[in-house]
Amino acid sequence: MEKTLQQKLIDAANEARKHAYVPYSGYKVGAALLTRSGEIVTGCNIENSSYTPTVCAERVAIFKAVSEGVVDFVALAVVTDNGGSPCGVCRQVMGEFMLEGTVLIADKDGNLLEEMSVNELLPRAFTPKHLGH
Ligand code: THU
Repeated sequence: MEKTLQQKLIDAANEARKHAYVPYSGYKVGAALLTRSGEIVTGCNIENSSYTPTVCAERVAIFKAVSEGVVDFVALAVVTDNGGSPCGVCRQVMGEFMLEGTVLIADKDGNLLEEMSVNELLPRAFTPKHLGH
């Protein structure tokens, strides 16, 4: 993936991070998805006083896109304070739509810390193939 495009995606994730609703953890996360057609769809984490309804930034971005009929993704940038890695539930959701896609992990200053495929993040994944899709 081209460096300028990587940075554009990281910057979009960082911008979305500003909207994180995190009164409980204080841990802001921003995500930005690059679709196959070159569109960028963003998300932030949204917490809840009942805790379990909390959704991660990655899933918000993916579900926003899917709900608009877009299901083909190339890359996903995730920005946190300290380069936190996507949780297991988000990895599973990424595996559904972008197993071969790239994940960029960056910090709040926009520095790219890690780059890997979803396949690498979630080895031996249960995928749509196991259900014949
Ligand atoms: N969080 C994300 O948004 N993405 C992840 O992959 C890990 C965790 C959020 C959920 C919660 O709002 C906060 O970070 C602390 O767990």
